Amino acid sequence: MKTLLVTGGCGFIGSNFVRWQLQSYPDVEIVNVDKLTYAGNLENLTDIEDDPRYRFEKGDICDRSFIDRVLTSASIDAVVNFAAESHVDRSILDSGPFIQTNIVGTQVLLDASRKAEIGRYLQVSTDEVYGTLGDNGYFTEDTPLAPNSPYSASKTAADLLVRAYFHTYGFPAITTRCSNNYGPWQFPEKLIPLFISNALADQALPVYGKGNNVRDWIHVLDHCRGIDAALRSGKPGEVYNFGGNSELTNIDLTLKLLDALGKPRTLIRHVEDRAGHDFRYAIDTTKSEHELGWKPEMDFETGLHSTIDWYLANSAWVDRIRSGLYLDYYENQYGTRLA
Ligand code: NAD
Ligand code: DAU
Repeated sequence: MKTLLVTGGCGFIGSNFVRWQLQSYPDVEIVNVDKLTYAGNLENLTDIEDDPRYRFEKGDICDRSFIDRVLTSASIDAVVNFAAESHVDRSILDSGPFIQTNIVGTQVLLDASRKAEIGRYLQVSTDEVYGTLGDNGYFTEDTPLAPNSPYSASKTAADLLVRAYFHTYGFPAITTRCSNNYGPWQFPEKLIPLFISNALADQALPVYGKGNNVRDWIHVLDHCRGIDAALRSGKPGEVYNFGGNSELTNIDLTLKLLDALGKPRTLIRHVEDRAGHDFRYAIDTTKSEHELGWKPEMDFETGLHSTIDWYLANSAWVDRIRSGLYLDYYENQYGTRLA
């Protein structure tokens, strides 16, 4: 597995994956295809952009001739598809880009990869395809698909295309489904980086509803190790779940963040709940542990503190994002303009 085509490598998880691959495998080469949407940021990879084993190609995964050209411009051994519209709240505001990139983009990549006889394809998916849990139980790879948001519906459609390409054509595709990631370079629209950035700026933290919804948090590098394990030793046609064994209600997480930052609880604002808000996600990782030899290694307290330290040290990165169109999005979503 020498040369990887990574899509969406300028986003949060993709950029962590690209860096981690280059650091972990001296012989790996990476071509990174990214459209540079609002969430894609070349700054996420400035430290490795001059590495001779790395090449960036700006473009859209929905553009078949562009993808065909990239796939034949190097001897690509595997494709890892991170490229997506990834934020649930934005999908509620406008599902159009989610249908286009997450579904059509995946179909284009699958078709082009099949034609180019790529030996391995990995679809980076999400636990949200399983819908929601009540107080008990865990998602396994056999849990029926029951997406509840336009985002998760589009990711589910992509997963079904991947499944169909394996069953119909024998195309060697693998799907991974992970819980909520956190860590460095996460765009500050998602809960943890949004609340860290708002708290540091003494702005209100908008907790949806009562804050009783539960998420299972996994450090992004544990997710990257899981994707790598599935890519190298997973079985084509299979699905592998990853999770962090770190379930928390949103309000408990918010209190933890405020305490760690030394900020007052008066910053908490309970705002209108997210439409169709999934109550709880939790993952059974038995299959990935047994078949891939993977398990999450980062303990949540350590990971959260190192993430907070990263955001403190990279306030200029955050400030450049929290301007212009970001402020418009924020106002549209939360009804208040950031100062
Ligand atoms: P992100 O929004 O931070 O990054 C997405 C990247 O994809 C950006 O760089 C963007 O420019 C690029 N992109 C978007 N549309 C594109 C297109 N049409 N062509 C090429 N590039 C395009 O997302 P993320 O949080 O890093 O998530 C990456 C993947 O992991 C997604 O597929 C997401 O569904 C999945 N996932 C995310 C999480 C999470 O907690 N963030 C958990 C499980 C799975
Ligand atoms: O589970 C995996 C998924 O995790 C990924 O597939 C998605 O790409 C990723 O965005 C994430 O989805 P969530 O919707 O769970 O993440 P988000 O950070 O948006 O929200 C986490 C929880 O916090 C959720 O219950 C909603 C709540 N929340 C979020 C925001 C942005 C708030 O209470 N206030 C907020 O302002």
